[in-house]
Amino acid sequence: MLTSFWHWYVVIITVVTILGCFWLLQWTKGVSNRDESEDGAGTTGHVWDEDLVELNNPLPRWWLQLFYITIAFAFIYLILFGGLGNIPGVLNWSQEGQYEAEMQSALEAQEEIFARYREMDNATLIADADANATGQRLFANNCAMCHGSDGRGARGFPNLTDDDWLYGRSYDMVMQAINNGRQGAMPVMVGGLDDAAISDLVVYVQSMSGQKADAAMAARGKKSFDMLCVACHGVDGSGNQALGSPRLNDDIWLYGGEPETIRTTLVEGRNGMMPAFEDVLSEDHRRLIAAYVLSLSE
Ligand code: HEC
Ligand code: HEC
Repeated sequence: MLTSFWHWYVVIITVVTILGCFWLLQWTKGVSNRDESEDGAGTTGHVWDEDLVELNNPLPRWWLQLFYITIAFAFIYLILFGGLGNIPGVLNWSQEGQYEAEMQSALEAQEEIFARYREMDNATLIADADANATGQRLFANNCAMCHGSDGRGARGFPNLTDDDWLYGRSYDMVMQAINNGRQGAMPVMVGGLDDAAISDLVVYVQSMSGQKADAAMAARGKKSFDMLCVACHGVDGSGNQALGSPRLNDDIWLYGGEPETIRTTLVEGRNGMMPAFEDVLSEDHRRLIAAYVLSLSE
């Protein structure tokens, strides 16, 4: 809606311009400085270089009529579609109206598709190729920047295609990650250890994943581990999915298994952050993404 000032501004300029064109046509048709004398017939009477004259013929009739037609068109258009400030056209057309009608029909088309998916149980949805194709597009737009376009993750961002899961591989857990996000919380536990004891602990963590390790150092490191780490990572380092603490007794790493990386993890702590999508995506969309994610590790 335009304010009253701009409403009249538009109305007056539009009407005056169209009427002005009409008047200009009438006026140019009427006036003539045609020289009708014998020798200068049909010219303006201007002569250059002794013999160059300017003809002054009236506009051809068909040409003139085109102008009248455009003026009539302008009025018909304004009546049908509106355009004079806030005065609506008789067809009641508006950009917003057209946008909303298109959105509405898109939603209806989507609704049909989603109604079909809503009837499927989770297992069927995970196996449905069409659902996964849509899920993949949603994943690409919302998740791929962290988990990779193929879901294989990156340092600090878990791989979703393998069978190693921080929180467990199930529809509910994946849905929970999508809805609420995830906050990994590995606190700094080694504050009371000196540098040599931290090195021992690093070597013990390496040894758990099957890397070659100095046995004496590992034995000393195990003592610290039993004291500081088993509450979350388990006695044998198999992790705890209720806490999202990763399994350490395999060779799959979230942050990395090189000695320097393990040391950084211990000394600085780790806080992997995944944002929540409950308010960002509709439930239909979140469900399709969850099904797609689970289809990756089947
Ligand atoms: C800003 C980066 C980021 C985005 C975007 C993101 N994630 Fe995550 N996601 C993470 C991080 C980091 C973790 C690990 C959290 C932790 O350390 O506990 C994670 C964890 C997960 C987990 C748990 C994995 C496991 O092993 O248990 C799932 C499932 C998951 N994300 C799915 C998704 C899906 C689906 C999307 C898109 C809707 C998404 N993520 C978007 C960063 C992200
Ligand atoms: C309060 C629970 C908790 C305690 C105690 C804890 N951790 Fe962790 N640890 C975690 C969590 C949770 C993560 C994953 C962090 C993330 O997702 O960002 C983690 C990550 C790690 C990683 C990275 C694994 C990888 O795949 O890159 C290592 C290594 C590790 N912890 C070793 C230790 C050691 C050694 C101790 C004992 C000094 C310890 N943790 C104590 C919860 C804990």
